[in-house]
Amino acid sequence: MRAYDIIEKKRDKLELSKGEINFLIKGYVDGEIPDYQMSAFLMAVYFSGMTDDECEILTECMLDSGEKIDLSEIDSVKVDKHSTGGVGDKTTLIVTPIVAACGVKVAKMSGRGLGHTGGTIDKLASIPHMETNLDKEKFFEIVKKIGCSIVSQTGNLVPADKKIYALRDVTATVESKPLIASSIMSKKIASGADCILLDVKVGDGAFMKTFEDAVELSKIMVNIGSRFGKKVAAVITDMNSPLGNAVGNALEVRESCEILKGSGPKDLREVSLVLSANMLCLAGKGTYETCHKLAENTLNDGSAFEKFKQMVEAQGGDISNFEKEDYASEAKIRHDVFAWDSGYIHAMRAESLGKASMILGAGRERKEDNIDYSAGILLHRKVGEKVNKGDILATFYSSDEYKCIDAEKIFKESVEISEDLPKLNKLIKARVTSQGIEKF
Ligand code: URA
Repeated sequence: MRAYDIIEKKRDKLELSKGEINFLIKGYVDGEIPDYQMSAFLMAVYFSGMTDDECEILTECMLDSGEKIDLSEIDSVKVDKHSTGGVGDKTTLIVTPIVAACGVKVAKMSGRGLGHTGGTIDKLASIPHMETNLDKEKFFEIVKKIGCSIVSQTGNLVPADKKIYALRDVTATVESKPLIASSIMSKKIASGADCILLDVKVGDGAFMKTFEDAVELSKIMVNIGSRFGKKVAAVITDMNSPLGNAVGNALEVRESCEILKGSGPKDLREVSLVLSANMLCLAGKGTYETCHKLAENTLNDGSAFEKFKQMVEAQGGDISNFEKEDYASEAKIRHDVFAWDSGYIHAMRAESLGKASMILGAGRERKEDNIDYSAGILLHRKVGEKVNKGDILATFYSSDEYKCIDAEKIFKESVEISEDLPKLNKLIKARVTSQGIEKF
């Protein structure tokens, strides 16, 4: 078998066999197939796509490249969630304790942020002394005792994805649905949960820019999960503007605490409850309406917040700030941005706001960059709201005034203010399951 022939076959839109896909993935991970041939293959997939069978085989080959987590010693149903990535998306910090407070276990492995999107592990790392590099014994012990734990992905979880993703990142092949689906699903299946809820983001700040693309990606992922015997659903949610008001690690933890205490921004509460309800449904806790009510009760009675504090404490984190109003303001510099016009806010483009937050120090451009956990943006106004010239639109947090000046330029380009009332995007657009699609 030759890599050349496999690349040629995919270029010509022909279906590859299991032997061929395996040859390529294994050969690349083992260092026998060079980057330039793998790059050509990835670009061929980008243009030619893959059949459902090819997607399943690719996922299986990636899965077989590393460790699979066996959660069977944790009794009862285990449920996982994954977001395809967004700006201000802190829902994992909220839904994990909600679902655990409803009696369903969540043993969650998460990643760090890269580029304009944030990562759950960075948000947790902003909590003083919080440990996310736990060994398997400690991780399992916390899930058994508390009901949930969030840790960093082990180094050996789908090593094929690490190598291939790094190559996709520099060869303009990230935005390929079969490649995204196999990348995400191999990691989710390797993480061992019985049920997987996918939050597929759509819009300006997401990989999927159109609803049709988001539906197609959801269908591929749900299909892969079902073929591996998992209960999977995908909820398609809006990512045209940031979720909630906070972007940046410590700011997002504070906002998550607000939601868990029963207050906080309406959009974030709504998406968090919908995701939690869907996770509970997958875990067999009842109808969607029952599960939504169960989830809502945990915010109203404080049990989800209690669960979050227990989880953070069990992982060594300091929870003393969580009850305070303004604990996330350790950044040296606070810089207000004022409305330059009067009218309604029509757009706050998520991708640019993510970039502005990264410039302030909250994210990393390259894997090895350091993060300033206190940096970020707090929005005082959101899309659809009325502003008067001179009102504070946002506060930037950073260690450096020059960074604020650069970030303000990007922020101003990403916000549109206009006289007429804007049409608001629906937050929750559809649910895709193995039964089909429900549009909302
Ligand atoms: N997230 C992943 O884990 N993989 C992708 O390919 C895209 C988003």
